[in-house]
Amino acid sequence: MTTITIPLAELAQGKMIARDAGARRILVCRTKEGLFAVDDVCSHADACLHEGRLRGHRVTCPLHGAAFDVRTGAVLGAPASRPVASFAVRLAGSVATIVVPDV
Ligand code: FES
Repeated sequence: MTTITIPLAELAQGKMIARDAGARRILVCRTKEGLFAVDDVCSHADACLHEGRLRGHRVTCPLHGAAFDVRTGAVLGAPASRPVASFAVRLAGSVATIVVPDV
């Protein structure tokens, strides 16, 4: 397991950031609904989702345009057909913490 900590000052609302966690890369998003974390690797062809676009709770892959719900990792738009993993985010004061299991 790997623990990621992100000070909220580094992540404005409507923005996203990627962090390495062991062998994984995790995408952390701050939306109006809160903080959410999913795998940064698109389930279609491995593009980096943090290079895409975040609108509300929807992140769009920069390579072929698949969309995922950052709250759950669910697919919202083709060509991806498999969800990305999602991870719980805990907020303590002004620091977000995500515990990421090993691959
Ligand atoms: S790699 Fe993300 S949609 Fe193809």
